[in-house]
Amino acid sequence: MRTQVAIIGGGPSGLLLSQLLHRKGIDTVVLERKTRDYVLGRIRAGILETGFVNLMREAGVADRMDKECFVHDGTVISHGDTQFTIDFKDLTDTSVVVYGQTEVTRDLYDAREAMDGTVIFNAENVQIHGADSDTPHVTYTTDGVEHRIDCDFVAGCDGFHGVSRQTIPLTVRREYEKLYPFGWLGILSETPPVHEELIYSCSSRGFALCSMRNENLSRYYIQCSLSDSPEDWSDDAFWQELKRRIPSEYADKLVTGPSIEKSIAPLRSFVTEPMRWGRLFLCGDAAHIVPPTGAKGLNTAASDIHYLYNGLILHYLDGDDTGIDTYSEKALARIWKAERFSWWMTNLLHRFPDQSEFDLKMQAADIAFLRDNRAAQTVLAQNYVGLPY
Ligand code: APR
Ligand code: PHB
Repeated sequence: MRTQVAIIGGGPSGLLLSQLLHRKGIDTVVLERKTRDYVLGRIRAGILETGFVNLMREAGVADRMDKECFVHDGTVISHGDTQFTIDFKDLTDTSVVVYGQTEVTRDLYDAREAMDGTVIFNAENVQIHGADSDTPHVTYTTDGVEHRIDCDFVAGCDGFHGVSRQTIPLTVRREYEKLYPFGWLGILSETPPVHEELIYSCSSRGFALCSMRNENLSRYYIQCSLSDSPEDWSDDAFWQELKRRIPSEYADKLVTGPSIEKSIAPLRSFVTEPMRWGRLFLCGDAAHIVPPTGAKGLNTAASDIHYLYNGLILHYLDGDDTGIDTYSEKALARIWKAERFSWWMTNLLHRFPDQSEFDLKMQAADIAFLRDNRAAQTVLAQNYVGLPY
């Protein structure tokens, strides 16, 4: 088989890139190691920056999102029993869209199917050959039979545990990582959200977040120990702890119910440089990870796709390689700002085991300054709604 761009990974990054390129007449093949249902079974955040929404529109997959999403003009931040709102709309004239990643991925799969795009599921043992040559190819196995795809370029959209980043030699690759000493215990419940916008809470017992998927599907998180497992937390224990970590105004009206999903995610900041090696380009989680506090995971993947998509159409349609030659530099410039914001918000709102009394006073002063200072709120709002591409 031959294609122009071989895309490894059928998550949001890979599917969005495939859909965008196909609409420009550029041929792609997506290799996904799992099944469609498995990929759609992942519960992930759904706070979309304007840049991502615009890409979905350009990809022709925004109809259901436009009908079913929430538009949030701000978010609540609470510290103990005090709370304040960061008004994105007032501070930046921009809002964010709330639309679960599962739905984004579902819409992208449906669009790929409608355009008869090539997505190969259960693709095992994917390997990238000759990435640093002019004739790269990819091999993979399905049903025990090995296949080969010759291509012009390879887009590594296969997430943190994928094969693409590992293909770049350690003599070329530089990795930067920070692990956080806690995790997020998250539940999904078929209950109405406790508030019409998100609540990020810093309490003496730890961080909590109140989010949502729709008017009867809520998503809640509490900071937990890395030694915890979901089985350690009954639904009732979760609800009681959540109520202790959010202002009483919300705790008193919280509608609880059985969890339909319960999981613990570790928090990590990670970046690999460069994001290009020869004809291999890394996108999304394959190249970088952020702690979920700033809701930047999907949105940094989106800006990677924006840069790579535009670089590839410049190559194919105009014979100009400026875009692909500057891809890594441009993508990393925006990624590092998103890494900083996510790291900053994580430090602002979580309790760290080694915090001294002085550290706690600094954290309280940081939150008080944010509460009282419009310029500080504007900086948070500009980063949260998304820095320019
Ligand atoms: N071969 C083929 N496919 C693979 C391989 C492999 N070796 N390894 C991983 N994959 C697939 C995974 O099964 C997954 O479907 O690649 C896909 C990667 O998807 P994500 O992990 O969701 O990464 P990405 O598409 O970059 O997502 C962007 O959305 O969910 C958020 O936080 C997530 O920041 C991430 C963002
Ligand atoms: C979510 O809804 O899952 C969510 C929202 C905002 C975040 C992280 C997760 O910062």
